[in-house]
Amino acid sequence: MTQGFFISFEGGEGAGKSTQIRRLAERLQAAGHDVVVTREPGGSPGAEAIRELLVNGAADRWSPVTETLLMYAARRDHVERVIRPALARGAVVLCDRFADSTRAYQGAGGDAPASLIASLEDHVLSGTVPDLTLILDLPAEIGLERAEARGGAARFESKGLAFHERLRAGYLEIARREPERCVVIEANADIDAVTAAISRTVDQRLER
Ligand SMILES: Nc1ncnc2c1ncn2[C@@H]1O[C@H](COP(=O)(O)OP(=O)(O)OP(=O)(O)O)[C@@H](O)[C@H]1O
Ligand SMILES: [Mg+2]
Repeated sequence: MTQGFFISFEGGEGAGKSTQIRRLAERLQAAGHDVVVTREPGGSPGAEAIRELLVNGAADRWSPVTETLLMYAARRDHVERVIRPALARGAVVLCDRFADSTRAYQGAGGDAPASLIASLEDHVLSGTVPDLTLILDLPAEIGLERAEARGGAARFESKGLAFHERLRAGYLEIARREPERCVVIEANADIDAVTAAISRTVDQRLER
């Protein structure tokens, strides 16, 4: 069976994940790859229904542990129905947020225990983890300004600057612990410079 390549994009609000995924998808498609673009929370019909519960409403609508469980219910459906089938047929999967978002938002940003999150990763993902994770890093206030300018104050954007600073530190800690999988991309740069850095990294990894 062929095996595809799984890339996740991570980082705080307004870091440029969606912008950069669109650009990378076009470039890889032009090079002849079968590319699947997807996102979390969501990415399958069931997970998109759960997404509505997660991204709307008051900031304190869910506790971090409840949020973690909803995220993992959505993630399991997405992995089973979209990501695994795509990888099995040899596609390059570009996922806008994945498991590291739970570690960062509910773990570092909230107070969901790292042991709970690690156990869910182990039992729920059962080996479906990214081959490469691009962490788009920029100061929290700049990301929030970008997201605000784009419009639509979503639930996580309303959690305040201190939350988003813990989030950023959480992502950098993930990259420090898993340097093989994770590459930190300087996202406080112009859009083309970020695209160029991502292209270099992805081409290197796809050639391996
Ligand atoms: N390098 C950049 N410099 C300046 N503006 C940027 C840059 N990258 C993206 N933007 C703009 O910032 C806004 C947020 O970008 P984008 O939606 O790609 O971020 P995101 O990481 O997907 O955010 P979210 O987590 O909220 O979905 C958009 O209006 C986009 O055009
Ligand atoms: Mg986005």
